[in-house]
Amino acid sequence: MREVNGELKVSKIKNGTVIDHITAGMAPAVLRILGIEQGCTDTVIVAMNVRSQRLGFKDMVKVENRALEAETVKKIAIVAPQATVNIIKDFAVVQKIPVELPHELIGIVRCSNRNCVTNAEPIPSYLVVENREPLRLRCHYCETVIEGTHASVLLL
Ligand code: CTP
Ligand code: ZN
Repeated sequence: MREVNGELKVSKIKNGTVIDHITAGMAPAVLRILGIEQGCTDTVIVAMNVRSQRLGFKDMVKVENRALEAETVKKIAIVAPQATVNIIKDFAVVQKIPVELPHELIGIVRCSNRNCVTNAEPIPSYLVVENREPLRLRCHYCETVIEGTHASVLLL
């Protein structure tokens, strides 16, 4: 890593995915979503609290040889609504996808109400996105409201 014009430059990757503009401090949540944990053998580069022109400070996660599924991108949108997913092929950015939260989250975030039907029966959770930033979700079944970073601990 080196610093150029006050911006931190992190090694480029050859093939894989770069998740950029992650809300500062949220890289560990993104790693959890990606299933990257102790014993992982993939090449992963993580930067936390680095300078960003757009956000002031940001986190970044680069994973070699990994493509993300649509469900994974939705989960990232919950913990880092400003994130950009960059697909890298042979060192070039071939696709840049801003993450976007859909209007409804089905089977993505668990309802926080223990007595909710979705926690008792094999029924997928169904949360309506009432507001994106700050995040506000409401359960379609029991009307429980889930706000902000609390959603990240309820990810399925
Ligand atoms: N990147 C990488 N390896 C590559 C190519 C790009 O790790 N082979 C990273 C860059 O370091 C950057 C991100 O992927 O963090 C997006 O690359 P690029 O679009 O070239 O950068 P910017 O124009 O700065 O992106 P943005 O406009 O999204 O801020
Ligand atoms: Zn509920």
